[in-house]
Amino acid sequence: MNGKFSNPPMISVRNLVKNYGNSQALRGISFQVQRGEIFAFLGPNGAGKTTAIKILTTLLRPTAGRVEIDGLDVTIDQHAVRERLGIIFQDSSLDDQLTVLENMLYHAVLYDVPRRLRGPRIEALIEVFGLGEYRHKQVRRLSGGLKRRVEVARALIHNPKTLFLDEPTIGLDPQSRNYLWAQVKQLNEREDVTVFLTTHYMEEAERFAHRIAILDQGNIIAQGTAKDLNMQTHSDTLEDSFIALTGREIRSEDNGMIDRMRQLSQLGKRK
Ligand SMILES: Nc1ncnc2c1ncn2[C@@H]1O[C@H](COP(=O)(O)OP(=O)(O)OP(=O)(O)O)[C@@H](O)[C@H]1O
Ligand SMILES: [Mg+2]
Repeated sequence: MNGKFSNPPMISVRNLVKNYGNSQALRGISFQVQRGEIFAFLGPNGAGKTTAIKILTTLLRPTAGRVEIDGLDVTIDQHAVRERLGIIFQDSSLDDQLTVLENMLYHAVLYDVPRRLRGPRIEALIEVFGLGEYRHKQVRRLSGGLKRRVEVARALIHNPKTLFLDEPTIGLDPQSRNYLWAQVKQLNEREDVTVFLTTHYMEEAERFAHRIAILDQGNIIAQGTAKDLNMQTHSDTLEDSFIALTGREIRSEDNGMIDRMRQLSQLGKRK
């Protein structure tokens, strides 16, 4: 992997702390993500994954520490940082009442994509994400998997160098999850987009991320390739490593429940 990455890192985080009132969501975490890398934050509910992503994408101010994206400080160069990244939120941020095309156009305008580039860029993404037949459909009428595809496609309209995905596959069936990951992997390989993702699906992190940081209660308790982590803990699988490192499972029963609740709420919206 060494030859592929060049300095400086795309993401650099040093001693990042975030307090919500008296509770510490991030307790001084440090890590770097190299250009062209796929990096995963793996951790149970409440570990601090979304908090970290919000700070990295300028949506939340850190309590202490330093975060740089592409060499720019996220608390100082907010605008320039935002131009460089695409975000897929844990909860959908599409406008349900608008069509796929309208959602994408709206985003293109918001991100100052020049008018003459908007059409071609959107059409190319619609093609890549297999959304052709849905372009004039209202988003609220789409399945969860299709909505996710629209979100990822939309996040790429302004050609970001880095893509942030917060639990992108939660609530999706295995087929939709595979489709999404295949597209993200292609983007990473063909367009050299750096990817930062959070998940609590071990096998996704193991399969798609070049490196993984395990986050638990606001601390990074281990980081490296899946192989490194397994070696450190003398385990055969990432799941066993996680248990060895944290002393417990990733509470998959909770995750299953959250998935089911999200599916139910999507059903409700689709009526
Ligand atoms: N706006 C907020 N105000 C107060 N506490 C918060 C807020 N947002 C998050 N927290 C707390 O911070 C901690 C980390 O939350 P966060 O959402 O970052 O975790 P997460 O790893 O993304 O969890 P999940 O897997 O459930 O999405 C949790 O204890 C949570 O309750
Ligand atoms: Mg979260």
